[in-house]
Amino acid sequence: MPKVNLGILASGRGSNLQAIIDAVNKGELNVNITAVVSDNERAYALDRARANNIPAYFVNPKEFGAKDQYEAQVVKILQDAKVNLVALAGYMRLIGPTLLEAFPNRVLNIHPALLPSFPGLQGQKQALDYGVKYSGCTVHFVDAGMDTGPIIAQAVVPVLDEDNEETLALRILTEEHKLYPQALKLYAEGKISIEGRKVKVIIE
Ligand code: GRF
Repeated sequence: MPKVNLGILASGRGSNLQAIIDAVNKGELNVNITAVVSDNERAYALDRARANNIPAYFVNPKEFGAKDQYEAQVVKILQDAKVNLVALAGYMRLIGPTLLEAFPNRVLNIHPALLPSFPGLQGQKQALDYGVKYSGCTVHFVDAGMDTGPIIAQAVVPVLDEDNEETLALRILTEEHKLYPQALKLYAEGKISIEGRKVKVIIE
């Protein structure tokens, strides 16, 4: 299987991006990160990319009349960078058909809850407010819905009585930083197959 060229889309602090960069630098994840794209000029994720000599791009959604035009520009950057797998890492936009059709079954996301519970914004707060005893994070393929695509991997953390949003988010984030590189590694090694809604991990 040819080496994966990974493109990462991020809108904010980019701690998951950093975890992926670290895994690559440690030799734990064998991919090339060929582009980091953000819709937010001030995203710390862009600084992290530049600090690691990864091409970093800001695409301003306000410069485009419609979502598909904005996404076409993002797709162009990714294709120019020879990206063949896209990872969303704190990317705060719903992915539209332009991006999905350019990368069919090749867009991954990490969500800070155990999907299908608590999709959308503030997954950690939703879990706390609901009163669940366990939450966690989910890496999944992206489809047209909001956090609805086939699930690749999940990690579970307890929700403690004394938790607030910050403490729970931090406990989940620690797991995110392990789970995302692990899931990307499975993909990069060609060990993932999708059968309908189900993702199977091929064990040799
Ligand atoms: C993470 O909690 C991730 O699960 C969610 O957005 C947050 C991004 O954090 N999709 P970071 O930018 O990777 O630090």
